[in-house]
Amino acid sequence: MSWRPSAAPPAPPCTNCGTPPAGGWRSSTCTAPNGTLAITSSGQGSVADNEGGGFEIYRASKAALNQLMRSYAARHHDDGRTLLLMAPGWVKTELGGSHARFTIGESIPHLVTTVDAQHGRTGLRYLDRHGRTVAW
Ligand SMILES: NC(=O)c1ccc[n+]([C@@H]2O[C@H](COP(=O)([O-])OP(=O)(O)OC[C@H]3O[C@@H](n4cnc5c(N)ncnc54)[C@H](OP(=O)(O)O)[C@@H]3O)[C@@H](O)[C@H]2O)c1
Repeated sequence: MSWRPSAAPPAPPCTNCGTPPAGGWRSSTCTAPNGTLAITSSGQGSVADNEGGGFEIYRASKAALNQLMRSYAARHHDDGRTLLLMAPGWVKTELGGSHARFTIGESIPHLVTTVDAQHGRTGLRYLDRHGRTVAW
């Protein structure tokens, strides 16, 4: 399989945005030219912040997603879109499990506020739910 963005097949309307690593990246094809493409990455995708290990396959998939988005942003540096890789924190979902630190209500409203606040800023950012930069 080629990883060139131009080789990606047409994406359905963002129903696969949560599927690391290629789903969100493919979804760039269905975003308005001046829209915001916010993809759910994870703090676990940070190579720089990996001090504890664990969840290696998950970490690797999110790091791969981040890398794909960096390549996309580099190839389309004159793109008018806002590109965001979002780290929501550890959230109680089927994936996050019942021991996770935050409920959906404690994470996602902040994340949405941050995504909205970034609209119109071109380029790629890797942010937590409060808008703080996550180290790559
Ligand atoms: N929960 C956390 O702590 C946390 C932290 C950081 C980042 N994230 C990210 O947030 C996103 C959402 O995760 P979540 O916590 O909400 O997990 P979740 O509740 O387990 O939901 C995962 C979703 O992904 C869908 N899915 C799984 N495999 C798929 C596939 N191969 N193709 C298409 N859809 C697929 C599932 O669909 P079905 O229901 O149909 O199976 C489900 O809707 C993920 O990208 C995850 O990595 C989560």
